[in-house]
Amino acid sequence: MKELLSKLTIDEKMKLVAGKDFWHTEDFNGKLYMVTVSDGPIGLRKPSIGTAWQSKDIPAIAYPSTEVLAQTWNPELAYKTGECLADDCIELDVDVLLGPGVNIKRDPACGRNFEYFSEDPIVAGIMGREYIKGVQAHHVGTSLKHYCANSIEIGRIWSSSEVDERTLREIYLKAFEIACEADPTTVMSSYNLLNGIRVNESKKLLTILREEFGFGDKLIMSDWDAVKNHVASVKAGCDWEMPYNEGNLNELRQAYANGEITEVEIDACALRVLKFIEKCAENKKQAKVSSTKEERYAAAQKVNEEGIVLLKNNGVLPIQANAKVFITGEKPNAYYCGGGSSRVAPLGEIKTLGETLKEAIPSADVLVRGTSYDSAVSKEYWASYEDGYDRDVCIVVCGDSESEGDDRYNGLHLCNKDERMILQVAETNPNTVVVLRYGAAVDVRSFADKVAAIIWAGYGGERGNEALANILSGKVNPSGRLAETFAHTYEDYPCYGTHDSYMLNRYTEGLDVGYRYFDKHPEKVRYPFGFGLSYSKFEYSDLQVKEAGDGFDVCFAVSNVSSVDGADVPQVYVHEVFPRTYRPYKELKAFKKVFIKAGKSEKVCVHLNRNDFAFYSVFGDGWTVTPGHYVIYVGKNTQEICLEAKIQVK
Ligand code: GLC
Repeated sequence: MKELLSKLTIDEKMKLVAGKDFWHTEDFNGKLYMVTVSDGPIGLRKPSIGTAWQSKDIPAIAYPSTEVLAQTWNPELAYKTGECLADDCIELDVDVLLGPGVNIKRDPACGRNFEYFSEDPIVAGIMGREYIKGVQAHHVGTSLKHYCANSIEIGRIWSSSEVDERTLREIYLKAFEIACEADPTTVMSSYNLLNGIRVNESKKLLTILREEFGFGDKLIMSDWDAVKNHVASVKAGCDWEMPYNEGNLNELRQAYANGEITEVEIDACALRVLKFIEKCAENKKQAKVSSTKEERYAAAQKVNEEGIVLLKNNGVLPIQANAKVFITGEKPNAYYCGGGSSRVAPLGEIKTLGETLKEAIPSADVLVRGTSYDSAVSKEYWASYEDGYDRDVCIVVCGDSESEGDDRYNGLHLCNKDERMILQVAETNPNTVVVLRYGAAVDVRSFADKVAAIIWAGYGGERGNEALANILSGKVNPSGRLAETFAHTYEDYPCYGTHDSYMLNRYTEGLDVGYRYFDKHPEKVRYPFGFGLSYSKFEYSDLQVKEAGDGFDVCFAVSNVSSVDGADVPQVYVHEVFPRTYRPYKELKAFKKVFIKAGKSEKVCVHLNRNDFAFYSVFGDGWTVTPGHYVIYVGKNTQEICLEAKIQVK
């Protein structure tokens, strides 16, 4: 590639780093391979018309949201999702999929939380890493995004995330560090500033990625329209500005002419673009579709089945044969999904919940009536109010589409029509089941104690109603676990009130994001991190912790003490007893999803390496382990610890 670079004029090199249009690398009229990139993390969004950002999207398989994928706690499903998306890309001639997003869910109001995995960097990092491996195993590229500390949408291009370095290392960079183990093709830098410097202009931050996370001389692209000073971004090592921006290109030309930027600095980025093009051209020769669309649909459905979280169940679920079921809600048949760059135009026919529930329970009598809330006195409204009265089970389907570019400023409430519908139906029938298809944590106070069951279904993709029907009917035993804390109210979150303005997001909670904060304030938690109910019952026992290699092997037994086969997700947390510096009470270091037949037990083992006990010392030597007393906790969620063992770390 260096030889090719030497043959290019300086203006050609600048065109390389400036991009060609919205979705392609500069190819000099076919002299070079032209790379095509497309969104998005939960389904391909390839514009049908040329390069316009907002043009009509070519239909593609819509997978469950990243939030739902995270709730499976199943890295194999993250890998599988990646494999499916790779095939979707190959079929539509896309070289690089712009995902996954591993930003930490610091603020539950963030409009993009449906596109992100978790409040915890271990869950986000591991699930993101496996997703990348799955895509790239089929010779399609990825773009790990948005690097970094991009945890809110309002004012994202001009706001500064104010984060202390230790918090940045232990929380907001950690997910990228873990995901980089998958050797992502590219990384996308984020819109925001970090402590006053625009991320794509921070050589220090991009160098951490390249030199400490092993990203090396692979391509860093900007987020779309995130470059506000192309000279500074090239100098920092942001290689590829997207989309093409003539003004920025001319600014670069002018700066070069004025000697403000050297050919050497431009070459550094241009060479990485050429290597990226070469990599994609090589991939293209080897990429071939390896699954059928039906296999991909099945994978999408399995992700939703394993990612649905049962938050409450007084025994009304699973729905029995011959049950009389009433389904309502403003849009019970709606397809709920996220908006912005992650939106997908679903490829297939989307079945209604009425249809899929009838398929799952043929003997059931299923009545569906949507309710136009617009006029509370409308006939439909009162009909639905009465329809549920003599039914065995009433299901109220609620949801809303969250989106990039906006945040939820309704205090995490359901849209109030949903709340009112839930309360009306629950008043007429105590066997009311609430299905929530939102993109992130919601405030359930108004109805949670008045209904029989609550299902956190998230954005389920285009086979979401098949998955939901299988959970409702018991054909599938719910095994999803929350990857973010549901507090009682928005005000309970430590991020509340830290947005000094649209310009400053002050991460004043530091390390105390998510359960790291709520472990000290359990009274503020409605449903804890890692929580999820099952139709089975599991017990843990026989914890054994033995030194192994530079760390410890942690083994224990998980027993299914019920009559229903099921899956559980034991989580392993570490607590330092006498820390020399502040540390959250406990931190997740490993987890494993285990499927166990009724009445059986399985031995589960995870390995903790020495780094799992480390904290980041800013003025010391970085990652540091303090020898001393630690406790290993094994739990079903952060508030349900079942086993513990005291150990000494040398
Ligand atoms: C968007 C998003 C990014 C997406 C890109 C291309 O603004 O921030 O995630 O991949 O632009 O659509």
